[in-house]
Amino acid sequence: DSIEKGGYEHFMLKEIFEQPRSILDSMRGRLELRSGHLNMAGARAYEQKFINAHRIIIVACGTSWHAGLVAEYLLEDLARIPVEVEYASEFRYRNPVLTERDIVIAISQSGETADTLAAIELAKSKGATIFGICNVVGSSIARATDAGAYTHAGPEIGVASTKAFTAQVTVLTLLAMIVGSKRGTLTDTKLRELMVELDNIPAKVEKALQLDTEIKQISEIFKDASNFLYLGRGYNFPVALEGALKLKEISYIHAEGYPAAEMKHGPIALIDENMPVVVIATKDQSYEKVVSNIQEVKARKGRIIAVVTEGDEVIPKMAEFVIEVPATSDVLMPLVSVVPLQLLSYYIAVMRGCNVDQPRNLAKSVTVE
Ligand code: G6P
Repeated sequence: DSIEKGGYEHFMLKEIFEQPRSILDSMRGRLELRSGHLNMAGARAYEQKFINAHRIIIVACGTSWHAGLVAEYLLEDLARIPVEVEYASEFRYRNPVLTERDIVIAISQSGETADTLAAIELAKSKGATIFGICNVVGSSIARATDAGAYTHAGPEIGVASTKAFTAQVTVLTLLAMIVGSKRGTLTDTKLRELMVELDNIPAKVEKALQLDTEIKQISEIFKDASNFLYLGRGYNFPVALEGALKLKEISYIHAEGYPAAEMKHGPIALIDENMPVVVIATKDQSYEKVVSNIQEVKARKGRIIAVVTEGDEVIPKMAEFVIEVPATSDVLMPLVSVVPLQLLSYYIAVMRGCNVDQPRNLAKSVTVE
């Protein structure tokens, strides 16, 4: 057991630290910087279908659904195809409207989630084209889809998904770049820029992992909280959801993720001097707006933990704690900004004496509906 954990105390921590490598593995052979090429066999098989797609519908559950939300931003931004992201369990019973010009992307780490599999079967019966993104090779979902791409993150043992999420986002980013360039919605210059930046992501994730000690100290301060709020906008909104999910899954602390601006329609009522609020506030298009949201939280005495871009001089004056991550393009930020949130949930859970790798009531793969 300890050999399998490679010297780490838990599989989850090992998997968090494996991310520079697993992200690289999910890009291997797909991102070729020197020749300037992007390759993905599954996408090539569907090239024409992606070019002509009217709509993309993403179906998934749990953390994979959060990767789907990041993909909604990516595919709309880079490939200009309308995207809907659906919980597989809702989609399958809703009599959804589907046509042959729709592409359904199913995302699943295990490839065995019963609801996701059923959603695929339903979409197939309505004539949609199905593209699968799975981690486990030869899994039921991989076999049920017409084409797809493996994430190649390696086996994930911890029930709370970490490296599978960043691998899914990497593959979906590559897919959006490929489709965007084929559809002519992504210029060659922008494509090249993103390729260079994506190639730098493993090193930036490595740097984010060096925040380990700092995050341990923050965890010590907040480990006894009974609620947490996570806020983000744009590409960091799904990251807020994922941060909250990680914390509740393994520490059993109630946590909610929210789009920062939507906070004033409810969660703001919960903010007082006992409420830790994690704000993902990296320098991107929504930065100024997020800064105002931080002020709103501060005015109500919420305790702010902000994830910011290195060198930010504004937010450190407002937040109680800041966690600095390396700068990258807006589009790629989830791959970096999620890392400190994974570590925060991990350390809080360990300090509370929780069974991090096998949290109560949860299963790694949910094969019943
Ligand atoms: C379970 C796991 C989660 C996972 C979800 C979807 O709830 O505990 O970590 O995100 O299922 O699983 P999948 O294998 O389809 O990605």
